[in-house]
Parts: sequence; C-alpha cells; structure tokens
Amino acid sequence: MANEKLHICDHPLVQHKVSLLRDKNTGAKEFRELVSEISMLMCYEATRDLPLKKVQIQTPIAIAESNVISGRKLAFVPILRAGLGMTEGVMALVPAAKIGHIGIFRGKGGSDKTVANEYYCKLPFDINERDVIVTDIMLATGTSAVHAIRKIKEAGAHSIKFMCIIAAPEGIAAIHKEFPDVEIYCGALDDGLNEDLYITPGVGDAGDRLFGTK
Ligand code: URA
Repeated sequence: MANEKLHICDHPLVQHKVSLLRDKNTGAKEFRELVSEISMLMCYEATRDLPLKKVQIQTPIAIAESNVISGRKLAFVPILRAGLGMTEGVMALVPAAKIGHIGIFRGKGGSDKTVANEYYCKLPFDINERDVIVTDIMLATGTSAVHAIRKIKEAGAHSIKFMCIIAAPEGIAAIHKEFPDVEIYCGALDDGLNEDLYITPGVGDAGDRLFGTK
C-alpha cells in the first residue's frame, strides 16, 4: 500500500513489541506497558518534523549554538477507550502537550457498526493553535477516526496527524478519502477486517486487553 502520507514505523524495537502485543497470552499488565512503550517510540517518529531554532546556551565550558523546538505547541487527543492507553507514553516525550478526549462507540444494540456515536468530547480551548496527534490503538474501519478528525478540524485545528499501533487498509482508505492531508503513523499494517470488523490478524479487542475487561 504505497502512500506518502502513511508511515509504518519499521524500527526493530517497535516491531518486536508489536509482536508481543499480538500474542493472546500477553496479560493486561504487559499489554499496557507495551502499548505505552510503542506509543513513546512512535511519538518520536511522528514529531520528527517539529521545527527547530538556534539558541545560545552557556555550558560550563563555553557558549553553545544549540537547537530548541521553535514555538509549536502540541495536543494529543486519544479516542476513548483504547486510545487512552497511549497517553502515558506520548506524554513522557512531550510533557507540555495538552490532552483532549473524544469518546466514540460504534453500533449500539446491534445497530450499524459503521456509524460513529460520540458520547464525550473535551478539547483544549486553544486547539486551533496546536498541532494535534489523534491516538487510537486500532485503526479498523476508520469510522471513529474520521469522526474524531472532523470534530477536531471543526474546532479549528489546522495540522492533524493520526497515530495508531495496528492499522487496516480499510481504515487508512477511509481517513484519506475524507482527509487526504492527514499523515498516519502505525506500527503495523495488517491484512484487513473480519466479518465482525476486527482487524486480522490484529490483537483482538484492544480496549478489553488494555483494561482487563475481557
Ligand atoms: N477495535 C479493536 O479493539 N480491535 C480491532 O481489531 C478493531 C477495532
């Protein structure tokens, strides 16, 4: 799936940890730790294009011409519930970022699973001044991701990236059909969706595995 807006993080540490995440015998504690570690490593990639400016810093020896991030502010917006598991990892790298939350479920009482139902949304008031990274562990149909990105755009954000650990081609296509400019970062691109709209081979239900609710 050649696509310049799709970044598959091929770092060996990410690939190794994704494999551990897939294992059905990985318990909730280890699953949570792996999600956090993978998210931190992927955040490193997703922030690679942050602009720098030169500053002078007095070291104990001399004045150094050194780089600092130049004024861009970030916000992360996890999609509840599973996206929450990625927050600790990304905040370890960018502690000054603000966090929005968006709660979406798909399909209620057997209703259409391809319809996004939003039940919660709280975004930073200055989101229009921030680069936004939306997080969710799984990008399956893309229904929730598209809804979240639309909502964040409507709130005024200009720069939005989407970061997930496992992506299905269907989800990538859904995001890029509506938002061709959104860069997607993932740890693995899987085969597709099964009849229950789970990613295959995937990791199963990421929210249940993260919170031990299976
Ligand atoms: N959400 C999950 O938790 N797992 C999938 O495979 C798809 C969506």
